[in-house]
Amino acid sequence: MSTFWSWWIIVITVVTLLGSLWLLVANRKTTISGQPGTDGEAPTTGHSYDGIEEYDNPLPAWWFWKFVGTVVFAAVYLALYPGLGSFQGLLGWTQENQWEASMAAADAKMDAQYAEYASRTIDDLAGDPAAKRMGRRLYNNNCSVCHGVGGSGANGFPNLADNDWLYGGHPEAILATLNGGRQGVMPAWGAVLGDEGVVNVTEYVLSLSDEPHNAAQAAAGGEQFAMFCASCHMPDGSGMQALGAPNLTDNIWLYRQADLTLAENIRATLRQGRNGIMPSQSDKLRPEKIHLIAAYVYGLSQTGAP
Ligand code: HEC
Ligand code: HEC
Repeated sequence: MSTFWSWWIIVITVVTLLGSLWLLVANRKTTISGQPGTDGEAPTTGHSYDGIEEYDNPLPAWWFWKFVGTVVFAAVYLALYPGLGSFQGLLGWTQENQWEASMAAADAKMDAQYAEYASRTIDDLAGDPAAKRMGRRLYNNNCSVCHGVGGSGANGFPNLADNDWLYGGHPEAILATLNGGRQGVMPAWGAVLGDEGVVNVTEYVLSLSDEPHNAAQAAAGGEQFAMFCASCHMPDGSGMQALGAPNLTDNIWLYRQADLTLAENIRATLRQGRNGIMPSQSDKLRPEKIHLIAAYVYGLSQTGAP
């Protein structure tokens, strides 16, 4: 906030507070002296509306002091907490440090539990229901937006429960994926292959997993596959985990936009390329948490059940 707007807010707030206090005190007693009351009744202000007279009663004391109290409360609050422009308040309270303090308190409570789990292998934890429950909670908070509840996956986001892996599914590979992140690089082939080439190679890719295809086009596409694709996807199409190049023979597809046919999805992959990004978790989550999540994910592929 610029200094000008900060002072703008400070001045308006303070003037409003003092102004309402002044209004209250100044009007506590009306200065219009009206008629004295009869029979012990309060005096009137002298105002008369259609014969109805206005009494000159003071404000009730409880109401008056409650109002003063709210003004005092506001002044004390604005001195202690942020609220007056960019003034931080005497307590130094911020939303962030409150959040951090409560996270630290929660972490401290869990520390003993985490330490116990961190000392056990992922293989071991994947068979421990209590550890898996904690892992599932962490997974749901941090991973399910992309990979779905239970690791079901989505278009462009790999299924983590099917025991089919881009980068490998043993505990070390999963840990490496979580800690370092992954970036799949599938170059675009539209310009190299041309329209006919894209169609032919697509038929060949379909043939690799025994999907319906045009045999003549697939044969032509096979030659181009050997030339352009085998270096990453291997000559037999079985993929390469070091690069995250998917196995093209298992009929499991990472890119499967629902309103397109399988052939259309593959042609789109070839024309435009694909660059799936798995964000690194090591700067977001403590190693103990990553360890538990890895155990949960590993367990998914072992049993297929969340
Ligand atoms: C912003 C979306 C996003 C989030 C959040 C995310 N991932 Fe991923 N993840 C991806 C994408 C995209 C890929 C595939 C990368 C590629 O195409 O090469 C991937 C890949 C993976 C893989 C490799 C799968 C394989 O077949 O080898 C694992 C394991 C994984 N993620 C686990 C997790 C876990 C556990 C979390 C939570 C801590 C998580 N991911 C959070 C998007 C995400
Ligand atoms: C430089 C290595 C490399 C080359 C060369 C390459 N690919 Fe890929 N391919 C990849 C990677 C990595 C992915 C995964 C992209 C991702 O995770 O976002 C991929 C993804 C794909 C997919 C999507 C699979 C799915 O499950 O949705 C298809 C289909 C494919 N490639 C076919 C081909 C064909 C056909 C060629 C040759 C014209 C080819 N690739 C050349 C690395 C390569």
